[in-house]
Amino acid sequence: MNKQELIDILSDSTKNDWLFKEADRVRRENIGDEVHLRGLIEFSNICKRQCKYCGLRSPNKEVERYRILKDDIIKTAANAVTLGYRTIVLQSGEDDYYDTDKMVEIIRELKKNDIALTLSIGEKTYDEYKAFKSAGADRYLLRIETTDENLYKEMHPHASYENRKRCLYDLKSLGFETGTGCLVGLPNQTIDSLADDILFFKELDADMVGIGPFIPHEQTPLKDSQKGDFWLALKVMALTRINLPDINIPATTAMETLNPNGRIIALNSGANVVMPNVTSTEYRAKYEIYPGKICINDQPEKCRGCIEGKIKSIGRKISKEKGFRKK
Ligand code: 5AD
Ligand code: FES
Repeated sequence: MNKQELIDILSDSTKNDWLFKEADRVRRENIGDEVHLRGLIEFSNICKRQCKYCGLRSPNKEVERYRILKDDIIKTAANAVTLGYRTIVLQSGEDDYYDTDKMVEIIRELKKNDIALTLSIGEKTYDEYKAFKSAGADRYLLRIETTDENLYKEMHPHASYENRKRCLYDLKSLGFETGTGCLVGLPNQTIDSLADDILFFKELDADMVGIGPFIPHEQTPLKDSQKGDFWLALKVMALTRINLPDINIPATTAMETLNPNGRIIALNSGANVVMPNVTSTEYRAKYEIYPGKICINDQPEKCRGCIEGKIKSIGRKISKEKGFRKK
């Protein structure tokens, strides 16, 4: 679709039902009914950055910060493997404690399991990404967040839009399956820029795209802003599916936070991935990117069973494979 077509659909709520059905059909015809589960380990909530929307931003002194060290990351991953996960996602704030050497050690250890490994640890240099790749990491998630440069600047003090893009193109060129995505409902975000976001996913040839509604966090400068709209986020996701038919698209946790059935609705509107949390319960509440995050009191076993039940209830099945993009 061209930009005008994207804008027309995004601005017209009478087309929603058609759009969600169409995205569901495109998903089924291109990649089938299997849902890939990714076990998410939130291993550090320490972050040097100041993204205005994020509860983990460095100026937030009310967060109790934690780091999970190598041995416990390995144990958490082993448990996830026992639960049947074929992909582990390591996510953290931008925490310089985990330098290249430490990350490479962790990657090598985790890759002793028969799993795909995804990193989601922020902006790094080309050489760092290269070291992660050589150590065995398969995928990398880094949302562009918004392609509206002015909004990007406003939302990310002391950060550079150019560098974020550079990271994504470096990751692609190094052979990572590269995931990106955006927030929907940031203050002053326009429909026009959401259309640009989708065109950007296409231009990058993203292998995975995660889309979630913005949820204001009490301890951030955006605490009084309006929350994002669940249905608009779902529309951006559905349009992403239609325009990138074979990629992986998660039903995001933020969607479930705004709508108790959010992940199932997303799976029926183009999504084919879910990323349940496998972090041990003692840390979950502290990884508060936004409030109301689901499952903060649950054990990894519980989430696995819960999501499995939900997926089966809509007639889909859980993949036993690593779930690389099928081009
Ligand atoms: N609401 C929704 N999503 C958020 N993220 C960060 N802060 C918020 C918020 N307040 C998302 C960002 C980031 C991902 C890990 O979490 O898009 O890339
Ligand atoms: Fe955690 Fe449902 S996914 S309890």
